[in-house]
Amino acid sequence: MKEQQQNAQTEIRRRIITRIKELAAQKKLLKQSDFLSEQLAGEMMYGFEGVYTRSEYDDLVTGIFSELLQKKRERTEKPIEQPQGDSNIVIEVKNLEKVYEMQAESVHALRGISFSIERNEYVSVMGASGSGKSTLLNILGCLDSPSSGDYYLGGENVSGMNDRQLAEVRNRKIGFVFQTFNLLSRASSLHNVELPLIYNGTPSSMRREMAYDALNKVGLGERVQHKPNELSGGQRQRVAIARALVNNPQIILADEPTGNLDSKTGDEILDLLDEVHRNGNTIVMVTHEAYVADKTHRVIYLKDGIIDTDRLTYNGEKKNNKTNVDRKYR
Ligand SMILES: Nc1ncnc2c1ncn2[C@@H]1O[C@H](COP(=O)(O)OP(=O)(O)OP(=O)(O)O)[C@@H](O)[C@H]1O
Ligand SMILES: [Mg+2]
Repeated sequence: MKEQQQNAQTEIRRRIITRIKELAAQKKLLKQSDFLSEQLAGEMMYGFEGVYTRSEYDDLVTGIFSELLQKKRERTEKPIEQPQGDSNIVIEVKNLEKVYEMQAESVHALRGISFSIERNEYVSVMGASGSGKSTLLNILGCLDSPSSGDYYLGGENVSGMNDRQLAEVRNRKIGFVFQTFNLLSRASSLHNVELPLIYNGTPSSMRREMAYDALNKVGLGERVQHKPNELSGGQRQRVAIARALVNNPQIILADEPTGNLDSKTGDEILDLLDEVHRNGNTIVMVTHEAYVADKTHRVIYLKDGIIDTDRLTYNGEKKNNKTNVDRKYR
């Protein structure tokens, strides 16, 4: 960010916070939407119109309000149970069950799943369509809660958390990559990658730099202003991976990340995930393709909502220098 722009930002930020404090002192509340109105935005940006753009201002306001919200939450919410010890286990599930209650019937998607995953493991989840792979990954990714059973994420028991706590843990610890990319279609690559940082209240000056950095890492430094429909499928998935990486999460979860790509582009995405793994991340990836699973180090095979097998791949044996014992029976 240029110095002039940085100075403008500092001053505008000061004005916004001063205004919020003044009004709070009079027991009045100003909402984020008020600051995004033309009138107040004009007032706050007065004198900096040529230096600071309206969209930068909007991001700044969003960032400030997320910071305030976060602080308020920290004051009011009971602290999340802190991890115990310095165990190498990052994911541990015990007797996980998931029942979807439908009108006419209930679907038992997971029927008692237990396993643990250590730091920097590279795991794939396979199984027939409907066997529960996405259900499991969504629970691991704190996008959904189990009906029963326990889930410890980095030692924190997350199975009893409410949606807001889950969202906070997800933002802090997990990057999620979907088969259909799930990008905001009207937003640039840069903005898409910045989103998790906006949600966790990272100041906008840092956000931009972190998003650039993540896009550079996935080889898209030249495409930061492109919107999803101006990118190829592989490039879109790279943006999604950059978005997953931008918070430096320990765990990357990917649900068929190459499912919508041709095989060459898919291979490039797998190479990228390999690199992410080599850099220290733990990866859990759902896939239908045996050759994709072979690239990982361990395959958990689901059948009708339970674990059928849980084995090291050839690569996993090589890495661990272990003979292949089905982990279910260890
Ligand atoms: N939101 C939901 N409501 C009701 N039933 C659901 C829901 N999501 C999944 N299911 C059911 O749960 C079971 C497991 O679904 P899941 O999506 O986890 O399978 P999957 O292994 O990911 O399949 P695929 O390979 O086709 O993606 C299926 O029988 C499915 O119909
Ligand atoms: Mg699925």
